Amino acid sequence: MPTVLVTGASRGIGREFASQYREAGWRVIATCRDPEGAGYKNSDAFELDVSDPVSIKNLANLLAGVPIDLLINNAGINRAKHANFGNLDYDAWDEVMWVNVLAPLRVAECFATHVAYSDLKQIVFLSSIMGSIEDNSGGMPIYRSSKAALNQAVRSVAPELRSKGITSLLIHPGWVRTDMGGPNAAIDVQTSVSGMRETIAALTPVMAGSYVNYDGKPIPW
Ligand SMILES: NC(=O)c1ccc[n+]([C@@H]2O[C@H](COP(=O)([O-])OP(=O)(O)OC[C@H]3O[C@@H](n4cnc5c(N)ncnc54)[C@H](OP(=O)(O)O)[C@@H]3O)[C@@H](O)[C@H]2O)c1
Repeated sequence: MPTVLVTGASRGIGREFASQYREAGWRVIATCRDPEGAGYKNSDAFELDVSDPVSIKNLANLLAGVPIDLLINNAGINRAKHANFGNLDYDAWDEVMWVNVLAPLRVAECFATHVAYSDLKQIVFLSSIMGSIEDNSGGMPIYRSSKAALNQAVRSVAPELRSKGITSLLIHPGWVRTDMGGPNAAIDVQTSVSGMRETIAALTPVMAGSYVNYDGKPIPW
């Protein structure tokens, strides 16, 4: 069975990815900042703080030689407070860029060899429609700019990843009822993740570096 590694698997979308792939018989490497606190038993999850380069390198070394068919860069944050013009929180902006942009790229770099060893060779990045410049009606510059930067960065490295046989994808999970999406969001985690799993299962190398909705429909950049 294939192996999937998920970042930010403590709750929300990441936790649901881990649970649905496990249910489907995959080997799941669930990672989060505090596996025990998230209710995982010892062998089920690994500690990974994506904002800490040492933490990423340590896990990549620990898993050296383990093929990872699908790497899901899911961990992300949205510091919504003080995100309006005239009241911008630059420390929060720095933190969001670090976690939402630099961290997933660093995780992809550190685990590219593991992915290249595998059969499927796929890296998925949780983006957001909020990263679309064409779709932008204003507001939330911190979060939006982080996802737009993630889009640009992933699109930029897609050809290099493809030369290693790795297919990358930017995916919007929908507006999902999680801590981040809030209780009024449009869909539940089960719907979002089962939709994304279908889209990922249909992923082919020609789609490398594309930006799609959870149901596979392209999103304007
Ligand atoms: N929900 C939506 O409507 C929506 C829409 C568009 C895009 N997204 C994207 O989808 C992804 C998942 O969102 P979600 O709704 O599931 O969010 P969530 O419920 O807030 O969960 C976020 C996850 O990211 C983890 N995380 C945050 N910082 C981390 C770090 N430094 N190291 C490791 N893990 C870290 C959290 O772990 P802790 O428990 O340790 O904090 C948690 O597991 C994010 O990238 C988000 O931007 C969500």
